[in-house]
Amino acid sequence: MNTDDRIRRLQELRAETSAAHERAIDRQHERGKHTARERIEMLLDKGSFQEMDALVRHQATGFGIQGNRPLGDAVITGWGTVDGRKIFIFAEDFTVYGGSLGEVVADKITKVMDLALEVGAPLIGLKDSGGARIQEGVVSLDGYGRIFERNVRASGVIPQISVIMGPCAGGAVYSPALTDFVYQVNETSHLFITGPDVIKAVTGEEVTFEELGGAHSHAAISGVTHFVASEDRTALEEVRYLLSFLPANNMESTPFFTPTDKPDRMEEELTSIIPDSSNQPYDMVRLLQLVVDDGEFYQVHEHFAQNIVVGLARLDGYTVGIVGNQPSALAGTLDINASVKAARFVRFCDAFNIPIVTFVDVPGFLPGVDQEHGGIIRHGAKLLYAYAEATVPKITVITRKAYGGAYVVMNSRSLRADLVYAWPSAEIAVMGAPGAVEIIHRSELAAAEDGDEQRSQLIEEYETTFNNPYLAAEIGLVDEVVEPREIRPRLIRALDMLRTKRETPPPKKHGNIPL
Ligand code: HXC
Repeated sequence: MNTDDRIRRLQELRAETSAAHERAIDRQHERGKHTARERIEMLLDKGSFQEMDALVRHQATGFGIQGNRPLGDAVITGWGTVDGRKIFIFAEDFTVYGGSLGEVVADKITKVMDLALEVGAPLIGLKDSGGARIQEGVVSLDGYGRIFERNVRASGVIPQISVIMGPCAGGAVYSPALTDFVYQVNETSHLFITGPDVIKAVTGEEVTFEELGGAHSHAAISGVTHFVASEDRTALEEVRYLLSFLPANNMESTPFFTPTDKPDRMEEELTSIIPDSSNQPYDMVRLLQLVVDDGEFYQVHEHFAQNIVVGLARLDGYTVGIVGNQPSALAGTLDINASVKAARFVRFCDAFNIPIVTFVDVPGFLPGVDQEHGGIIRHGAKLLYAYAEATVPKITVITRKAYGGAYVVMNSRSLRADLVYAWPSAEIAVMGAPGAVEIIHRSELAAAEDGDEQRSQLIEEYETTFNNPYLAAEIGLVDEVVEPREIRPRLIRALDMLRTKRETPPPKKHGNIPL
């Protein structure tokens, strides 16, 4: 064989296909889904994809699969660029053995994961698979185990993003669950440990695939999913956008984008955003949009635990992670889900050198037997722990209420906030006025003939004394009381000052966050 023949042989191999595979591709398209290769093209910069292991074939001999050994098997792997920045990718290919994972599929995925970790670049997994390849038995389970172990090893070192674009069932769900961000495509993706049939057989409950594991269920109820997209293309466009905020790895800084928004912009609308009555809600998302560069706030977990808002934005071109209590949902109280949502986000930011700006308007923890018995004590502790352990620049802005334990948890000075700003509307106290008066003056109010009148007077006195930022400012728990319209320039100058912050925690293997 001369060189030309050998090259021809390679080209023939690369072009190899089968009628069955063509039919599987058609079926994929009929369902409104794209193939793994098409998805990779959508995600990466044009022409940047460098494929690996395209000639891999499975080596299994059991259960009649020895005669069907498609090239590349059921996953496409490699690297490429997004906006010129390197990323690694694996895309499960549902058109081959239903995207199921056998030995060589796991080998391909783990090879690309190892490279991503060694090189220090984000890893994106596009998931569309029937799970462990049944014909390969325990070898497939071992394959998942090898992937999970790498997910954990890479956690906090490189950003890991999963996009669920088809089925993802059984133990296979634990790979996306271990990654930093999960996207789901609406209606075509389903995530679950046990499917509707098994659930019906075991518990008698009847549920559809969509209700059980569809995008909205996981985005709003379980919290497994951070982002919902209407179709493959929009999911992948969003991943590109998310990557624009993130560093390549934990040793690098986030990308800088020359801002079009002025750093010294005074935002007059902020002056009127807090209602006069402190029990009236307002929209924290709107407030944040008024502060950040060009009003661009990429909300993470938008549909889950809406009483807290978390997301990414830029201030003067630099990425910041933002956490804000949302007075429009559950009055902005902290509950179990809100604590867990914000804690995970804070830890992500801390791992990847993203400064955290926290906007506080929190009346306290959500009262209720459900919350207490559901473990608000240990879940609330997660948020406290996450803030206290974070060493990135941490700035707090108290817009209105900052009451009790929730005040402490929301990145207070005591948890080593670097700077705490308060607006004149801030109310920093152990608790709200009516509750406080009831406790301090219970017996005298009960005995008084004009109890109601006295109560209102005492509430007013309490509010005048405590519902302001000045007591905290007198003892340095608030560094500066600023006008709402000044907050953007203040934050930008503070972040600029903190850019070289270095904090070295005491040596330890790892802490013991109350999981
Ligand atoms: C081998 C599989 C497969 C699997 C699908 N296929 N899943 N082959 N192992 N796990 C094959 C089918 O035989 C079929 O091949 C092709 O993929 C497409 O599948 P269809 O069933 O025709 O597609 P669809 O109707 O869309 O149904 C998709 C599906 C269903 C819902 C995913 O295939 C399914 O229920 N699969 C089994 C899911 C499952 O129980 N997996 C194990 C989960 S446990 P042909 O040749 O006909 O095209 C698990 C453990 C992981 O994953 C543990 C980690 C610790």
